Amino acid sequence: MQRRHLIQTAALSAIALSIALALPTASAQSNTFKIGLILPMTGQQASTGRQIEAAARLYMAQNGDTVAGKKIELIVKDDVATPDITKRLAQELIVNDKVNVIAGFGVTPAALAAAPLATQSKTPQVVMAAATSSITEASPYIVRSSFTLPQVSVAMGDWAPKNGVKSVVTLVADYGPGNDAEKFFSERFQLNGGKVLDKLRVPLRNPDFAPFLQKVRDAKPDALFVFVPSGAGAAVMKQFLERGMDKAGIRLIATGDVTDDDQLNDMGDGALGVVTSHHYSAAHPSAMNKKFVEAFQKANPKMRPNFMAVGGYDGMRVIYEALKTTKGQGGGDALLAAMKGQVFESPRGPVLIDAQTRDIVQDVYLRKVEKKDGQLYNVEFDVIKGVKDPGKAK
Ligand code: PHB
Repeated sequence: MQRRHLIQTAALSAIALSIALALPTASAQSNTFKIGLILPMTGQQASTGRQIEAAARLYMAQNGDTVAGKKIELIVKDDVATPDITKRLAQELIVNDKVNVIAGFGVTPAALAAAPLATQSKTPQVVMAAATSSITEASPYIVRSSFTLPQVSVAMGDWAPKNGVKSVVTLVADYGPGNDAEKFFSERFQLNGGKVLDKLRVPLRNPDFAPFLQKVRDAKPDALFVFVPSGAGAAVMKQFLERGMDKAGIRLIATGDVTDDDQLNDMGDGALGVVTSHHYSAAHPSAMNKKFVEAFQKANPKMRPNFMAVGGYDGMRVIYEALKTTKGQGGGDALLAAMKGQVFESPRGPVLIDAQTRDIVQDVYLRKVEKKDGQLYNVEFDVIKGVKDPGKAK
C-alpha cells in the first residue's frame, strides 16, 4: 500500500514537472533575461567553474548588462560536477526562476543530465565546457561553444607519426571524452602507420596514475598519448616526470587539456617541449586574444584564462547576439534559431556554430610548451583550419 502510494506520488510529480516545463516562461514578458549558469564551483572540477564564471562576468562587463532592452541576470549554481545535482538545479532554474537559457556544464555527465529538461521546456542549453562528441545529439536545444575531443585528437594522430612517434600507449580518463580521445587519436594514428601497443583507462575520480605509468614503462612506446580533464593535467605531468618516463625515452603527447593554461605555469620546466593539440592557448598571437588575456588578468589577478574561460566567453557572445537578433522578444525556439550559424572571431581564432549540428567549427593548433618572459606557455606552431567535429560523421 505504501509502495503503491509512493509510485503514485512519483508519477504525479513527474506529470506536474512536465506540465511546469511545458508552460511558457513568464520572463518572456518581463524586462529581465535570465541565464542559469550551472558549473562545478567546488570539488575536483572547480577550476572549470572559476574560469567560466570569471569569463562570463568579463563578457558582461565589456558588453553591458542590458541587451535589446532586457537586463541580463546571471544566476550561478554549483553542481559539483554531479549529474543528479545538475538535473535538480536545471529543473529549479527552468521552473522556479524561469530562466531563458541554461548554460555552463563542466563535465559530460552534467551536460547529458540537463538535456531532457532543455528539450521538454524548449530552453536553449549552451554547453560551454563539456566535450564528448555526442552531447549535441542529446537535445535539439543544445548549442556548444567549447570543443570536441575527436576535433582535437585527430590532429595529434596526424602530427605524431610524421614526427618520429611510431608506437604509443594511450592513457585516458574513463568516460565520454576519454573514450572519444582514445578512439579518434588511435584510429588516425594507425591509419598513418603507427602502432598502438596498449590502451589504458584511468578512473575519473581521484585517479592514481602510478600503476598505469608502470605499465607504460614496461611497454616502451615512443610516446604516451594522454587525455585527462582540465584540472587533472598537473598530476599526470608530475608523476610522468617523477617516474623518469622522459629519461627512459618515452615522449609525452596529449590533448591541450593536459597542459591546461590554468595549471601549466606551476608544472615546472619538466613540461618544456611537450607537444599537444587543442583549440585555445593563452599565447594565441591575435590582437583580440591579447586584449582578452589582458582584461581577464586585470579582473582576476591570480588567474590565466584557459580553454574553459574561452568557452564561457564565447558562449555568452552566442547568447547576447541571439538576444539582439530576436530584438529581446525571443522565446526558446527563436533564440535557438538565432544561435545557429553564428560566425565570429573568438580569442581562439575564427569560429562558426554549425547550423546543422549546433556544434562549434574551429581551428585546431599544434603547440609546444616553451618559456616566454619567464613563464610557461603552449606556443602554437601549426594550424588545421576550420575543423568540424569528426565524431558527427559516424
Ligand atoms: C568533459 O567532461 O566533457 C570534459 C571535461 C574537461 C575537459 C574536457 C572534457 O578538459
